[in-house]
Amino acid sequence: MCGIFGIITNQDNISLGKVVLEGIKRLEYRGYDSCGIVALSNSELHVKKDSGKIDEIQKKINLADIPNNSKLALAHTRWATHGAPTRKNSHPHLDCSNKIAVVHNGIIENFLELRKMLTEKGHLFESDTDTEVIPHLIEIKMKEGLNFKDSVVEALKLLTGAYAVAVCHADYPDSIIVARKESPLVIGIIEGKSTYCASDIPAFLPLTRKCYIMDDDELAILKAGEVEFFDLISNERIEKELRTIEWSIDAAEKGGYEHFMLKEIYEEPIAIRNTLKISEELLRVFANILLSAENIYITAAGTSYHAALAGKFIISKFLGKHIQDIECSELETQLKGNLQKNSVIIAISQSGETIDIIEAIKWAKKAKSVKILTITNVVGSSITRSSDHVIVTNAGPEIGVAATKTYSTQVLTLALIAVSIAKIRKIISDEEIIKYYEALTGIPNIIEKFLEKNVDLIKYIVNNLEKNMNYFFLARGISIATAKEGGLKLKEVACRFIEGYSAASAKHGPISLVREGFPIIFIAPPDETYNRLVGNVMEFKSRGGRIISVVVESDEKITKLSDITIRIPQPADKYYNLFSPITFMPALQLLAYYSALAHDLDPDKPLNLSKTVTVH
Ligand code: M6R
Repeated sequence: MCGIFGIITNQDNISLGKVVLEGIKRLEYRGYDSCGIVALSNSELHVKKDSGKIDEIQKKINLADIPNNSKLALAHTRWATHGAPTRKNSHPHLDCSNKIAVVHNGIIENFLELRKMLTEKGHLFESDTDTEVIPHLIEIKMKEGLNFKDSVVEALKLLTGAYAVAVCHADYPDSIIVARKESPLVIGIIEGKSTYCASDIPAFLPLTRKCYIMDDDELAILKAGEVEFFDLISNERIEKELRTIEWSIDAAEKGGYEHFMLKEIYEEPIAIRNTLKISEELLRVFANILLSAENIYITAAGTSYHAALAGKFIISKFLGKHIQDIECSELETQLKGNLQKNSVIIAISQSGETIDIIEAIKWAKKAKSVKILTITNVVGSSITRSSDHVIVTNAGPEIGVAATKTYSTQVLTLALIAVSIAKIRKIISDEEIIKYYEALTGIPNIIEKFLEKNVDLIKYIVNNLEKNMNYFFLARGISIATAKEGGLKLKEVACRFIEGYSAASAKHGPISLVREGFPIIFIAPPDETYNRLVGNVMEFKSRGGRIISVVVESDEKITKLSDITIRIPQPADKYYNLFSPITFMPALQLLAYYSALAHDLDPDKPLNLSKTVTVH
């Protein structure tokens, strides 16, 4: 996820540099690895860019200082996906002639092939990004004699993946061309005067409330105070509805959601779709290293540790080896003197900056020759420096302190590695592999369907439970991870005390707390643990527990025993069951979110917590 902003105007009385800087700053929540601006004046492109947060860059190079007579500029704030967060990888990216500039949000999946083809034709690349192929492809099309717009259209046809792009050309000072496929893009307009493009409405909201929302496979030509839309596939002109935005800037930044936590829960389907694009080659690298390792550890903190618990379960199923989970703060204490050569540590950290995990893997690297396989959401974060191989989860920046979409994408990444292992080992049939992939690719739809239909039910449960201070979240098998993570969410944002525990172990102690009406949330996918879980539900029900269960749509047995059920719209089969830590989680995240609101707490700013824990 990155932010793009552009303006083309005929107004003399505005400071273009200031407008662009303020616009891109309002998109900084979408990424803050680097920022860049390109302004057009006297048939030349003027580029300013650097790595870091916008304010830091501003102090160094004054991004707003662009030529006075400029009437067109593009800007970008980056959340790195391909290439480290360095100056050379900052947008905009230019073609060989320095005439075409592109800012891009999205992921170009076939960029390696395109880059190879372009390099063979003599094009020179300055960055490691996927984006840089775009200006070079447009350059080729223009050299073939196409006009600016058709060159962009034809270049985009060569891309697979997701993009929102804005393009300008030094010889076309009256146009910006923009296009969208699977990444957001909106156009703001002051008719007859100025036109803006942006990844999100808040970027231009102080300037205009009139806007067009672009859909997939659409292209637009922006001129000062005018815009024309085209279907990218047919290249025909299309009409679009001009809308008036009623939101405040604050609400707009959160996409109309009241809090980032809620927005990020609703972003899970798109985040998961992006994670599904992780290259098979990289998954195979992880899979092969795990297959040849003698000892495997998986380590993380907090939510990432819960993802590790779910992931270790999924991977072990196909790996045929035990994986030991260790909280990263305990890794050195537990493994000191025991860490053998040919060990592999899977390290998981959303931020890549949690001090405990950074120190743990630095220690492991020094202590023995072990391999560190890292899964993080932040390209170039500190953890990546001590890692042998890194997978980036592609969830986009997460602003809410409570981890939501990054949890789903971490578990999904581990699940993708697991299926890759199954493929290499050929321990299941090709038909079964296909079924697991179908289940994985079906996850976003399941979550979308759930979020569409169940918010009122969740609010009802919250109202019903509002006075309770203590809860159990119980489960068996893989769902223990779900219970722990669901419990952590409610604990951190709604300040309730939760025991996220194994349903079997709960009768060895915790059950003594149960009285009439004590709320117990059972996580109950229909897997191999289901029948035993039915027994556990009965044990707690017969002691007066108030049973809320999370089940699949077709569930009957546990439904009959429950006071309330939350039903996840997914098939009751083993393929989907294995990924239930992902599909069941939004229900529990929403429960935590609405509980926080019911207790007048700000879910984006839980008490005593910070997004990244950089102290021991
Ligand atoms: O950035 P990390 O994944 O290393 O962070 C680890 C924990 O601090 C984090 O998961 C924390 O538990 C969450 N914010 C909880 O929602």
